[in-house]
Amino acid sequence: MANHIDLVMAMRDDADFSSAWSAVSPTLKWNQRPSARRLWQLARLARPGTIVEIGSFLGNSTIYLALAGGEVHAVDPHTPQSMTQVPRVVAADAQESKRSSSEPMDPSELFLLNLERFGVRERVVYHREPSVEAAASWSEGAVRLLYIDGLHTYEAVQQDYHAWKPFLAKEHVVLFDDYLWAEVQHAVDDLRAQSACRFFYVRGGQAIFSTTPLPLRVVGLP
Ligand SMILES: C[S@@+](CC[C@H](N)C(=O)[O-])C[C@H]1O[C@@H](n2cnc3c(N)ncnc32)[C@H](O)[C@@H]1O
Repeated sequence: MANHIDLVMAMRDDADFSSAWSAVSPTLKWNQRPSARRLWQLARLARPGTIVEIGSFLGNSTIYLALAGGEVHAVDPHTPQSMTQVPRVVAADAQESKRSSSEPMDPSELFLLNLERFGVRERVVYHREPSVEAAASWSEGAVRLLYIDGLHTYEAVQQDYHAWKPFLAKEHVVLFDDYLWAEVQHAVDDLRAQSACRFFYVRGGQAIFSTTPLPLRVVGLP
């Protein structure tokens, strides 16, 4: 539904987001405009702390977060074991690659190429390790926006949240991708009771915990 009535929202997009969308979306098609806008708006909220993304894949969401919000800590082991739920990456995905289009490519290499291509490499701190390990050695201060889009199992979503919960800033937002997946939804619903957040939204297949109420302009349409 959000995509169908998104034309109304698109008319009110700020110029910076519209220009980012026009540049990124023809190449990286993982996000729909409403979810890209949501990442952008949440990253733009002026609050103390940094942004952590769990699950970067080829950098689509990372790029919107970095263009809008500055420094982003992108956590993804980019291993065959971690990438069982995403499509196989081939050289055709990278315009710069000289390799044959059916040849498998290191997704981590392509992730970094995409960050370079859209000018955000300097803003992204890449943690090539599982989320729980990155949390165990975290020393970068409070997290104002935690974006959870790693493995979509009940156990993994629970682990990701619990690993990062101690680092959440006093005012924070946690955005869970793919809430429409049954296991993600089950995990998020169970986590709600344990969260310090009073406000809960489901928008465009994503779920949001927030310590403060968020305007429609930020969270987007249901
Ligand atoms: C759905 S994709 C992420 C898509 C990306 N957020 C986007 O919107 O462009 C899921 C990613 O999560 C990563 N992943 C799986 N397990 C993980 C873990 N324990 N910690 C961090 N990332 C993980 C996978 O390697 C994969 O690249």
